[in-house]
Amino acid sequence: MKAMIIVGARPNFMKAAPIITALGAARSGLHRLAFGAQEIDVVLVHTGQHYDAAMSDSFFADLGLPKPDVYLGVGSGSHAAQTAEIMRRFEEVVLAEKPGVVIVVGDVNSTVACALVAAKIAYDSNGSRPMIAHVEAGLRSFDRGMPEEINRIVTDHLSDMLFVTESSGVENLHREGVAGEKIHFVGNTMIDSLLSFESKADQSEILDSLGLREGGEMEMGRGGVPRYALLTLHRPSNVDERGTFLNILEGLEELSTSCPIMFSAHPRTRKRIEEFGLERFFVAGKDGAKGIRLLEPLRYLDFVCLMKHAAIVVTDSGGIQEETTCLGVPCVTVRENTERPVTITEGTNRLAGTKRERIREVVREQEGRAGAGRIPEKWDGKAAERIVGAILEELEKKKTEIAAL
Ligand code: UD1
Repeated sequence: MKAMIIVGARPNFMKAAPIITALGAARSGLHRLAFGAQEIDVVLVHTGQHYDAAMSDSFFADLGLPKPDVYLGVGSGSHAAQTAEIMRRFEEVVLAEKPGVVIVVGDVNSTVACALVAAKIAYDSNGSRPMIAHVEAGLRSFDRGMPEEINRIVTDHLSDMLFVTESSGVENLHREGVAGEKIHFVGNTMIDSLLSFESKADQSEILDSLGLREGGEMEMGRGGVPRYALLTLHRPSNVDERGTFLNILEGLEELSTSCPIMFSAHPRTRKRIEEFGLERFFVAGKDGAKGIRLLEPLRYLDFVCLMKHAAIVVTDSGGIQEETTCLGVPCVTVRENTERPVTITEGTNRLAGTKRERIREVVREQEGRAGAGRIPEKWDGKAAERIVGAILEELEKKKTEIAAL
């Protein structure tokens, strides 16, 4: 039996890593008693949607991911071109490998493209095909202008097993008519990674290399580390339109006069800064200097370390809203909506939209915020074990059904 797991873009890597580990445990027989004598071969497919050392390779190294068995090398392109190219190349791989299950994670173009291929493929004249498992199913921003929302909806409705991170996801899927037996509320594999790599991240040297260790003139913040903020922005709706990007940067000017802001900039964002002539918002890389400091995309362990000690995190990412909730770090999300409402109702996240006044206000509120939120239900580091357990059980059932025919 082959289990094929797909990764493509940066946020996929930390979501897939714990599942690969749990499948490895299944393969070495640890799940044998519970799930029969399944022999699992794990095939890791990297679509190459993200391909840079900084966006991909360093994550493989930090997360201890094995080298992909198959690399599709699709690279960048328009949504249609990128999705189509992944589909075209992935179809050949599925036909050659004939996996029993295809596991897709998250909401990127690689997720929907591979789910679509697996849903329509036919291994034989009976039309048998792999089971499709979607990890991080059910999240909804209710904003169809977001490419990820389209990817989430389509992937969920193609999947046979839907693994959900928070209770809102279960409600959304029920509302959309997804059969109850397909839905599994298991927790969050991104949090599995965070919890298992947190102590390794503590050994990161990023605070020293950014000059965030020695107090000097700087005010002290969390964990005996000088006070700084962390910023990430990459949503097309925020950075591809000059006016919106400008509003966000102006909204952060006040914060940048009170502490340094470390800005880990996605390649898309960096391109726009140059194109829109926004360089004046950034200070040169000087230790501890106030202002927004532009950094290359950070590697996973360095980013976790910076997130953990930040006084406040400002972001438009999905996953970072969840990681800050888990770490108890105040988060300001510069979007009008979130598909992860539990980070607001229970966690440390607040929505600020993209207007400068509102961003300033929410930053001030969040800076004064004392104490952490609650850790959401089942965010306990065991989501991947639950997922692999459920997949093996389902495959075992299928085998028994076929044998009984
Ligand atoms: C993708 C995901 C988004 C996720 C984000 C995380 C979709 C629809 N979007 O957006 O959900 O939050 O990844 O990073 O799948 N580029 C590089 N090097 C790389 C990869 C990209 O320079 O390794 C540049 C390319 O110029 C490319 C641009 O970044 O055109 C955007 O990359 P793309 O994968 O199309 O989308 P993201 O914005 O990264």
